[in-house]
This record gives sequence, structure tokens and C-alpha cells, in this order.
Amino acid sequence: MTRILVYTGKGGVGKTSIAAATALACADRGYRTIVMSTDIAHSLGDAFELELGPTPVEVVPNLWAQESDVFFNVARYWGRIQRYAASVLRWRGLDEVMAEEMTVLPGMDEVGSLLWIADHHDSGDYDVVVVDAAPTGETLRLLSLPEAAKWWMEKVEPIGRRITKLTGPLIQRVVGMPMPSDDVFKAGEELFGRLEHMRGLLADHSKTSVRVVLTLEQVVIKEAQRSFTYFHLYGYPTDLVIANRVLPDAVGPYFRGWYEAQQRYGPIVEKTFHPVPVRSVPYFDREMVGVERLRQLGRSLYDVSDPTEFFYRGRPYSVHRENGTYTVSVDLPFTEKEGIDLSRHGDELVIDLGTWRRTVVLPRILVDVPTDGATFEEGTLKIRFALPSAQESRS
Ligand SMILES: Nc1ncnc2c1ncn2[C@@H]1O[C@H](COP(=O)(O)OP(=O)(O)OP(=O)(O)O)[C@@H](O)[C@H]1O
Ligand SMILES: [Mg+2]
Repeated sequence: MTRILVYTGKGGVGKTSIAAATALACADRGYRTIVMSTDIAHSLGDAFELELGPTPVEVVPNLWAQESDVFFNVARYWGRIQRYAASVLRWRGLDEVMAEEMTVLPGMDEVGSLLWIADHHDSGDYDVVVVDAAPTGETLRLLSLPEAAKWWMEKVEPIGRRITKLTGPLIQRVVGMPMPSDDVFKAGEELFGRLEHMRGLLADHSKTSVRVVLTLEQVVIKEAQRSFTYFHLYGYPTDLVIANRVLPDAVGPYFRGWYEAQQRYGPIVEKTFHPVPVRSVPYFDREMVGVERLRQLGRSLYDVSDPTEFFYRGRPYSVHRENGTYTVSVDLPFTEKEGIDLSRHGDELVIDLGTWRRTVVLPRILVDVPTDGATFEEGTLKIRFALPSAQESRS
């Protein structure tokens, strides 16, 4: 089975270094490991002091590294859809070059590189896939995409396809607008299918751990908390928080202020992320680049433990049954009750939180059962359901 380790955090906290050091530690333990970056600003190559490309390059025995390439990824998954979109834009009178430019969706390149995770998982070539993910904001947006895509595919796409089949030739004759051909839909289906598969892998508690890298500074901790909430909301398992660049006790008078602030934030971080464990990495006296330095970083982080270990096992969602009624519990740490909005659409329970939305597809037995109130206590949202009908509760 392939283990997937995703490192994320605010810009500059040390994601790339820690992902590279982790991958190296895995390879040194004998795991066939690939480390890849979804960040289009390449720095994985700098960490290893190597030229990397869009396909895996061997770094040391058992370790391969890869950096994503916008054009490579876009062409691979988005090409056919993009060509259709371009033909529509040209029909609207946009010139050739503009039409091409307009159809590169923002974020599509990063999505393409996220899809590599699924590819490497499925290939069976690796025991561990280590991901150096782009800074948190973007990562979260990308992680929510498969859900949006799934919704689109199930609800909108079949209708679109039917309409095109029935009226496409007519529309094309009368107004001249190019109609998507079947292979455009097929490309869309394929892409969304891959996204859905990727989402499934990332939410798989037996395979994936999303690890949050932070430094002991107020703004960084705040952002880490926010992403922690969203990982729970989307069901991505988190098993470790890494406090990087922790100043040693022997720090001189110049850095005293920083040191004291870190000493204050340390316990706060421990408390806020509890029960997920926090490990610290010291502020080294130089840049952590090259294989030897990265090994040192890895040793200080994992010591004798195996980086592929599950450092914490928790379930952000659960369904309980008590006296014949059901409760769906969702852990949403650091959230205020006021921010949560709940709605029901058939078999889907929709949780809105700020600009984010999570759709929980309910267990079959609850599909026709009305909700019977919700509570939010100590970071857990509990949604109660009325008694299922007698016939259903027997099944
Ligand atoms: N514990 C540490 N001690 C000393 N230097 C470190 C430590 N961790 C990382 N660095 C150095 O800090 C710099 C930034 O680290 P890195 O590139 O890993 O951050 P990042 O989170 O990936 O940044 P970005 O968001 O820009 O991708 C690098 O030069 C790296 O060598
Ligand atoms: Mg980086």
C-alpha cells in the first residue's frame, strides 16, 4: 500500500525543506519514495541542489523527485476542454492568442500536479508519495475543487450532454456557435473522475496524512488553525503539526525578543492542536540545502521514528446511532457557532463555513429522514436526525 504525506503551511515556513527531508528519511529506511511539489514556484530542486523536471528524477537510491510543469500538466488533462473553450471564444470574436490565453483556468496547473499524487499512488512504483504543497490558501482551494467538480458532474453535466445531443446541431446551424463534441465531455468526465479519485485518496485515513508546518509567530499560527479547521471540514486526516525554526535556548541577546515570543507561543500551539501532536525543529545556523543538511533536518524531526507512522489517528466525521436515532458529528476546531450554516438537499447535508462548503453525502438510511436540530459544542458539530421509519430501521 502507498502512503501519502502532504506538507502544507504558510509561505516560507519550511514546507519544501521538510518535505524533502521527510522523503529522504523515507528513502533511507528503504521505502521507494517520490517527492513532488505542487508549487509552480520551483524550489524542491534548490533544496536538493539538483535540476528537476516534470517527470521523476532519481536523487539518491530509493528517492525520486519531480517538479510540476504548468504546460505539461495543462496539456495532459485540460487540452481538449481548453480547445473547445477557445473555439467558443474565437466564435465570439476574440483573436486567436487571446482565446488561448483566456482558457487557462487559474489553478488548473496546480490541479494537474495534484493529480500526479493519484498517478503515483496507482502506479504501484512507490511506497511513499511525499507532497510539498503550495501555501495553504491555494492548497485549500484546490482541495475543495474535486467536490465542486463532482457536484457539477452529477447534476449539471448529464443535462448539458442531453441538451447538446438534442439541440446542438440546430443551435450550431442557426447561431453558428460551436457545440462541444462528445470527446470534450469525455475529457471533462475523465478529468473529474481523476479529481474524485484524488479526493478519495486524500481523505483515506488508512493512506494519507496532511501535516501542517508552521513557525511560532502569531499570523502563521492563525493561518495554520484556519487550515486545520478546513482539513477537518473536508475530511483530510491530519496527524502532525511541525513547529519549524524554533530558536535554541543558547540564543544571544539580539534574538532574545524572538526567543521569548516563541517560548510563549509554543505551549499555545500544543494546546490548540491537541490531540494532534506537535514536533519542533530547531532554527539551524544555515540554509538547509543539499542531501546532508536535509538528512540532519530529517533526524531532528523524526529522530528514530518512521516518518510514515500515523502520529495521530482521529476521525473528523462520525455517524452514531443511539436509541434508533442517528447523529452525524463533524469536528470543526477553532470555529464559532455563528459562522456555520447548515442546509439539506435530498441526500446531502451542506455545511457552509465562510466561503467554504462541505457536502456530506448521508448514509442511505438517513436519506428520507428529516434533521432534528444541531448543536455545536467544544469544536464538534452534531446534527441529529429524527427516527427513521420502522421499515428502514429494520433494514
Ligand atoms: N529549521 C531551519 N533552519 C534553518 N533554515 C531553514 C529551516 N527550515 C527551512 N530553512 C530555510 O528557510 C528557507 C525557506 O524554506 P522553504 O523553502 O523550505 O520554505 P517553504 O515553506 O517551502 O517556502 P515557500 O512557501 O516559498 O515555498 C530555505 O532557505 C531553507 O533552507
Ligand atoms: Mg516551498
